[in-house]
Amino acid sequence: MSEPSDRAFGHAPTPVLRPWTLGDRDVAAVQRAFAWPGMAAQARNPIATAVGARSWLEPMVPASADAEPRCVAFAIDLDGVAVGHVMVSAIERVHLTGWVSYWVAPPARGRGLAGAATAALADHCFTVQGLFRLELGHRLNNPASGRVAAAAGFVREGTERQKLRYRDGDGCWERYDTALWARLATDPAPAVVPLWIAAK
Ligand SMILES: CC(C)(COP(=O)(O)OP(=O)(O)OC[C@H]1O[C@@H](n2cnc3c(N)ncnc32)[C@H](O)[C@@H]1OP(=O)(O)O)[C@@H](O)C(=O)NCCC(=O)NCCS
Repeated sequence: MSEPSDRAFGHAPTPVLRPWTLGDRDVAAVQRAFAWPGMAAQARNPIATAVGARSWLEPMVPASADAEPRCVAFAIDLDGVAVGHVMVSAIERVHLTGWVSYWVAPPARGRGLAGAATAALADHCFTVQGLFRLELGHRLNNPASGRVAAAAGFVREGTERQKLRYRDGDGCWERYDTALWARLATDPAPAVVPLWIAAK
């Protein structure tokens, strides 16, 4: 993948993946994203304040000394503003597996960002982290997430009964049947062009 050059020529901003930071801009971006309806389910705890946004970010920021992290996360950056998130968590180094998740803030949806970001994350997992099998799951009533998985080269493997738990509008936990998708290091690369991953 070559480094995007659009900025140098004044074209429309090119989205990239980059590491999250604990800086004010990323804290504000996370707080803004989670203020949108439907986003609360993507976090374990409510994110209503800058303190909450910072707590969400802390495990996403890489510890430079960690050669074998359990989690690798990137911000989807559009012209210097974080508009989304992709992550592999639960990295397991015996079986070389990991669990992929993503979100995109509503104003940035519908332009292929999640698919291209997840494809880039998968490449990173296979080539840099040395993983072999990536899994992800989504509620059956979230077909957009399935479209993202397919675009990023994942294959649907079935339905897992009541695997995932999300809070409903009243804050009560509810379990959901979940579509399971996976991509192996040996699967064909998807047609989508993965986002470039910037060092910072
Ligand atoms: C799922 C999500 C990440 C998609 O982000 P995005 O940047 O809009 O994704 P993309 O533009 O790459 O692709 C969206 C795809 O979903 C499709 N889609 C959108 N809404 C849909 C719906 N209600 N039903 C079916 N497909 C839908 C789009 O048509 C597109 O498919 P296509 O590329 O085949 O045309 C975003 O909606 C989101 O953050 N949702 C909340 C968090 C979430 O559900 N995360 C996944 C948890 S497993």
